[in-house]
Amino acid sequence: MVSLLLISLPLLPVVVMATTLCHSRLLALCRRVCERVLRFFHGEVCVKSTHAYVFSECTHGQAASVLATFDLYARTHASVSIGPEKGEFVDEVVKREAPLRVLELGMHCGYTSVRILRLLPTSGKLLTVELDPLTAEKGEEIILVAGFKNPQFQVLTCSSAEAISSLPSQLGESCLDLVVMDHDPEQYLPDLLALQRGKLLSARCVLLLNGTLEPGAQALLEHVTARPQQYDIGHQFKDMVEIHCHMPTHSQGEVS
Ligand SMILES: C[S@@+](CC[C@H](N)C(=O)[O-])C[C@H]1O[C@@H](n2cnc3c(N)ncnc32)[C@H](O)[C@@H]1O
Repeated sequence: MVSLLLISLPLLPVVVMATTLCHSRLLALCRRVCERVLRFFHGEVCVKSTHAYVFSECTHGQAASVLATFDLYARTHASVSIGPEKGEFVDEVVKREAPLRVLELGMHCGYTSVRILRLLPTSGKLLTVELDPLTAEKGEEIILVAGFKNPQFQVLTCSSAEAISSLPSQLGESCLDLVVMDHDPEQYLPDLLALQRGKLLSARCVLLLNGTLEPGAQALLEHVTARPQQYDIGHQFKDMVEIHCHMPTHSQGEVS
């Protein structure tokens, strides 16, 4: 018995490590299953009830009232909007960077879109992407209710990947100064790479990432931190972070 203990003692760290790894993977898996189940049951209800509440309770034509009504709704209902605190972080970035062309991936009911639009100059434009057609319709209506009109903004009802491939025709000669990613974290890195391949980011482009704890977002952060010449990680607030991209001008060649 003693000899058995002595033989197995060196294996103890391996056993502890393997158990911890399995445990954390299991926890991550459980968390994802719970999120999917909740999203399945709350998804449509959330969009319709958010839209109905904001539409009926806000003062039409006033972006501030639309945002305050979203925030009021989120106090008593499930909501995926970024909310007032992270919203102020977005505001700071938009005010500081003064972007002219903004791409939002993951519009949902338009909360972040309205926050951004109210700070854009008249020559600015927001392209906002939403995969789900019903959500896109409801979100667009809220943006119109807030007092914004086409062509200040355009809703692209498709996946982020499809939207990115259609961007050259949407943007013409312009490039994106700000990209907000709050859609599917697994798409964050592929979408960033596609934007770079298409040379769609301006030399001073800022990337705002929500949900930095998600594995997909972590993959993007690893990509970014491994390339300090191309990116700077800027301010962070909760699970939102800003990344400054130093894109070469077209004549300076490809980005890896
Ligand atoms: C967390 S919500 C965005 C919330 C929004 N930023 C706000 O503050 O109101 C994520 C949205 O992204 C959409 N989405 C998920 N995957 C997507 C994809 N691959 N392309 C475009 N939209 C996507 C979902 O349908 C959902 O409406």
